[in-house]
Amino acid sequence: MPAPLPVILDGDPGLDDAIAWLLALASPEELDVLAITTVHGNVGLDLTTRNAGVTLALAGADVPVYAGAERPLLCAPLTAARVHGETGLPAADLPEPRRGPEAEHAVNFLVRAVRERPGEVTLVATGPLTNLALAFRLAPDLPGKVREVVWMGGSTGGGNRTPAAEFNALADPHAAHIVLTSGVPVRMYGLNVTMQAVATPERVGRLRGLGNRAGRVSADLLTFYAGVYRERYGLSGGALHDPLAVAAAIRPELCRTQPMNVQVEMQEGLNFGRTVCDVYGVTEQPANVEVAVEVDDEALFALLLERVGRLG
Ligand code: RIB
Ligand code: CA
Repeated sequence: MPAPLPVILDGDPGLDDAIAWLLALASPEELDVLAITTVHGNVGLDLTTRNAGVTLALAGADVPVYAGAERPLLCAPLTAARVHGETGLPAADLPEPRRGPEAEHAVNFLVRAVRERPGEVTLVATGPLTNLALAFRLAPDLPGKVREVVWMGGSTGGGNRTPAAEFNALADPHAAHIVLTSGVPVRMYGLNVTMQAVATPERVGRLRGLGNRAGRVSADLLTFYAGVYRERYGLSGGALHDPLAVAAAIRPELCRTQPMNVQVEMQEGLNFGRTVCDVYGVTEQPANVEVAVEVDDEALFALLLERVGRLG
């Protein structure tokens, strides 16, 4: 059994980030979660940071939390409270955080942690890429020292916040541009695969049937989420966007990926925040991203169910 992968979880919980982080924290054989860094996104930074503490308490994990960027690099902040509820974690029976965030800013922590273990640390990003972009600008040596970025974001097709743009990319397109063009190895899990990983009523029932608190809370969160996804996207449940990114960090074979040139539209207008993926290589530009193009969503859910079942 290889040694667990050192990872830093960066995100904007947000209910699917929280479920993704439960999966990560319940997988110590594969992932060594060094820390959590929080960012603006689904809800404001104060709430994403508090929700990180709630998620850690739910997992019974003692992992430091570093609060990061409270707004995008340039554009106006965007939130998704309609999808994730006003608090970002629409569920009852949530535990209180056991401790607050560290004093050090997330960006300074990212620079320090990666430099301490060059080539070893994987950044699993499930929100806007503002923290990573700031770290790469603060420390230009960093992209060459990060093992890999695994990002839930973008899409080879349509968007979920605008017809062209996926939320994490749209929330900070300039940050996404900086990270995707930095030379750091990136695996991108976009809507074209994550929207296939649906938390159907049957799957939510199996999570609730685990009989533990983590399963009950996950089921409550996904039940709220399902209402939004039925109404807005016509799906039978919420898409397991962020859990897919964490699952792919654990088991890359869950998805087929294809090297592509990916650029981010930063021009205001219809395509603002779009990840323009050169699926057929027509630009003859070098590939800068490994883009997920197929997913085994049965295997994803089986992994999620088994690991959440390990928690209290
Ligand atoms: O578009 C889906 C992504 O945006 C997910 O990461 C969700 O948590 C939101 O951040
Ligand atoms: Ca997220």
